[in-house]
Amino acid sequence: MTITCVEDFRQVYRSRVPRMFYDYAESGSYTESTFRQNESDFQRLNIRQRVGVDIRNITTLTEMAGESVNLPLAFAPVGMLGIQNIGGEIKVAKAAQKFGVPFILSTMSIASVEEVAEATSAPFWFQLYVVKDRDFVREMIHRAKAAGCSRLVITMDLSMLGQRHRDLKNKLSIRPNLKNLVNIATKPRWAYEFATGPAVSFGNVVGHAKGVDDLASLLTWAAEMVDPALDWDDVEWIRREWDGPVILKGILDVEDARIAADMGIETIVVSNHGGRQLDGAGSSISWLPRIADAVSDRVELLLDSGVRSGMDIFRARAMGASGVLLGRAMVYALGAMGQEGVEILLSILDKELRTTMGLAGKTQLDDISPKDVYWTD
Ligand code: FNR
Repeated sequence: MTITCVEDFRQVYRSRVPRMFYDYAESGSYTESTFRQNESDFQRLNIRQRVGVDIRNITTLTEMAGESVNLPLAFAPVGMLGIQNIGGEIKVAKAAQKFGVPFILSTMSIASVEEVAEATSAPFWFQLYVVKDRDFVREMIHRAKAAGCSRLVITMDLSMLGQRHRDLKNKLSIRPNLKNLVNIATKPRWAYEFATGPAVSFGNVVGHAKGVDDLASLLTWAAEMVDPALDWDDVEWIRREWDGPVILKGILDVEDARIAADMGIETIVVSNHGGRQLDGAGSSISWLPRIADAVSDRVELLLDSGVRSGMDIFRARAMGASGVLLGRAMVYALGAMGQEGVEILLSILDKELRTTMGLAGKTQLDDISPKDVYWTD
């Protein structure tokens, strides 16, 4: 198949990766209404077509969280990338480095922060889950610092787990049961890479968190460690420990954005975790303009959840985000075709964004404003 868009990657990804890992990515919590709305609300935001502008010199260079980027996007932190495609974190980090966009490593990655640092030369960002074991959190912050990570992304919207029915039904695990094994037998390419590649584990956690020395103990740890106590005082503590720029991810309300601004947080990610947490929450793109009205003079806004094209990146810029994070679009490309897939994805998004800018009469990202889009029902 000739890949021309993100949806093509999704279809190839679906055919190549075991069903339980596809379902893990391609699902939202409970009824999945927020998961679907994230994408459909982007479609409701129309772009104004403008003509008669010299559009020979289009540039997508800009800054995100104070770093220069060639495209206004970063790869979102996604757990278990290294199982969607063996060595996944390192492959995405390398593609990101090649294109000059940030890669954000999840706490729940297969490759450890040290392994990713070893395999790359550009600094990447680290996403922190604030778990109950604060000694582990402190150590993780310092490991990310020592590995040269340039930004710390604190995930704020996972103080409880949004239930995903498919994961329960599939008995999601990195140790497959018989039913999952039967499905894996239909994915020979993935099975071969899995069988011949390095052992799969959670690199940041196993051997570092208390009492976690193998996979079985890790799964119990992960379920028990989600911390319902996470509050703004913890954010202050983490900032002190990190002693550098932090980004708060998972802000979806004007009041919370104001609290972050009052604390002097530089950057927030307007996000509902891709519809995986609070089912019934509004889409990220529908909240973005309200949050921008309230705090954009004090805080830089990024956006994720539902971004599937360069047109969506244009829409997010118009509504007040300086850039977007890509979750599933990256998973589809990686699962479909490994590092090459992620590189093709970046070229596709680059072209889509440039074409959209040109046909909307823009040569600079800074020229895009709320006047360039309008909502339809
Ligand atoms: C995620 N997300 C996520 N976020 C985070 O802070 N830490 C994590 O480990 C994960 N893991 C994760 C796994 C999978 C499979 C998905 C799909 C998502 C959320 C992610 O960073 C981002 O917020 C969403 O993916 C954005 O929505 P889209 O782009 O997937 O629609």
